Amino acid sequence: MASKSTVILGTGHYAPARILTNDELAKTVETSDEWIRTRSGIRERRIAAPDESTSDMAVAAAKAALADAGLTAADIDLLIVATVTPDLPLPAAACIIQHKLGIPTHAACFDLNAACSGFIYSLDTASAMIGSGRYRHALVIGADKLSAIVDWKERTTCVLFGDGAGAVVLAASDDPNRGIIGARLGAYGDSVDLLKIPKGGSDNPATPDSIAAGDHFMKMKGKEVFKLAVRAMDETARDILEQHHLRADQISLVIPHQANLRIIEAVSAYLELPMDRFVVNVDRFGNTSAASVPIALDEARKAGRIKSGDLLLLVAFGAGLTYGSALIRW
Ligand SMILES: CC(C)(COP(=O)(O)OP(=O)(O)OC[C@H]1O[C@@H](n2cnc3c(N)ncnc32)[C@H](O)[C@@H]1OP(=O)(O)O)[C@@H](O)C(=O)NCCC(=O)NCCS
Repeated sequence: MASKSTVILGTGHYAPARILTNDELAKTVETSDEWIRTRSGIRERRIAAPDESTSDMAVAAAKAALADAGLTAADIDLLIVATVTPDLPLPAAACIIQHKLGIPTHAACFDLNAACSGFIYSLDTASAMIGSGRYRHALVIGADKLSAIVDWKERTTCVLFGDGAGAVVLAASDDPNRGIIGARLGAYGDSVDLLKIPKGGSDNPATPDSIAAGDHFMKMKGKEVFKLAVRAMDETARDILEQHHLRADQISLVIPHQANLRIIEAVSAYLELPMDRFVVNVDRFGNTSAASVPIALDEARKAGRIKSGDLLLLVAFGAGLTYGSALIRW
């Protein structure tokens, strides 16, 4: 029988030990702590060790979320991994993570690529699959090792990104007033060129020349992304609130994608919701793509900022450009 809602039973995150500060970056590219802080709010980011993979980070975050939920890997029958940096182009990181965690072979395991909106896309997908009544316990992970696809010689991008993983465990609930009460997903496919890795895909396989030109690294038109990000986050937040007959001031806490403090401040101004209702950790992590929202969610919970009955708004945008929002009654 189809269940009424999907609740989050546990959360967890993992951040690599290595901290890369703005001052350190300023020794390798022409930038400064002052420029990075005033333009983005970022002070430092975490960088995975060379032998630390996306799946390793995902496994650490997942173990924390499973322990928090009081479940084990054996209980999971659905694993969705939001990532743009799987360990290998083929197969899915989810299958590697399944094996490392010991998730049963009858579990559905797949990756979902919606870039920085990937966690919200995955949450909605898992929620719908659980809602179908065919899955009991889902593990949803957002994990990215962006340091592997960042051009460390390119100051316009390398200062913004970092590595990490966040995870949640989901289950069905009979209480229709708790859990994921809605989600809105969308994409501006006409803006693919604003943020992409130009070569290395099936249309343009990597060649020695493309690698020498750095075309296997992320390229971004920062200003255009900024404008579209603010618009997309504001619109999707308004849409979902309207759909659920809610006002912005009824939201207890917004958990936004952590790309740039100025983007979060702009969304706060547009929604007329004070910044103390927004979770901000971009100063310590930079933009960790699909990991950003679940890391912020876990940190907010562990800091005691989320109480039973609170209304949470998750909102993100990413390459594609994708965007999405989700409302959760805790
Ligand atoms: C990238 C971003 C921080 C730049 O901020 P900005 O306010 O638009 O930048 P400005 O226009 O004020 O500054 C650009 C200038 O700084 C320079 N600059 C770029 N990166 C720099 C750096 N790391 N250090 C110093 N100078 C830098 C540029 O070369 C440019 O110089 P010019 O004016 O001489 O051409 C901002 O546009 C942004 O965050 N965009 C969104 C990116 C994003 O979120 N991407 C992820 C999507 S999920």
